Amino acid sequence: MSDTMVEVISAEEIQRRVQQLGKDITELYQGEPLTVVCVLKGAFLFFADLVRSIDLPLELEFVRLASYGNGTDSGQLVFSKDLETSIQGKNVLIVEDIVDSGRSMDFLIRTFAERRPKSLRLVALVDKSERREVELTVDFPGFPLKKGFIVGYGMDYAERYRELSGIFEIVD
Ligand code: IMP
Ligand code: MG
Repeated sequence: MSDTMVEVISAEEIQRRVQQLGKDITELYQGEPLTVVCVLKGAFLFFADLVRSIDLPLELEFVRLASYGNGTDSGQLVFSKDLETSIQGKNVLIVEDIVDSGRSMDFLIRTFAERRPKSLRLVALVDKSERREVELTVDFPGFPLKKGFIVGYGMDYAERYRELSGIFEIVD
């Protein structure tokens, strides 16, 4: 069984945008140290490229979210892997692959905010802003996307296609 896919963002376009995001982030923090948090698994490639385009003293951390509850509903969010360091008093930047309803990042931002970081911001490679169900600010949006389900550059469909260098829409 294979899926029909069309390329929507090329590997070259992604690399150009990531370099620009790295510059924007570098400028904003003015040489201050930054704790960069990768949201597993989807952000792993974006994170790997982005941290290499940021010119600041960095600390790299990883979290993973899971939801439990009944079927179709997104259910209750929990950490299946939490941070391994305190973020109190630190500049924290969350790195996410794609923000859709916004519920995952709303949970993460609220949870992190309770830990009293010095600053807390969000960078997302893809921003499906029209599908937002909660109010949420993506401080550094990579690419806007109106609709469709995409894979590649970290993002999956049933755990497939994460390794692709470009971003593809699954069509039927
Ligand atoms: P949200 O909580 O609805 O914002 O969901 C965001 C999460 O859903 C992302 O971190 C992705 O893991 C997943 N997701 C949403 N849209 C897509 C997509 O088009 N392709 C792959 N994963 C997606
Ligand atoms: Mg994700």
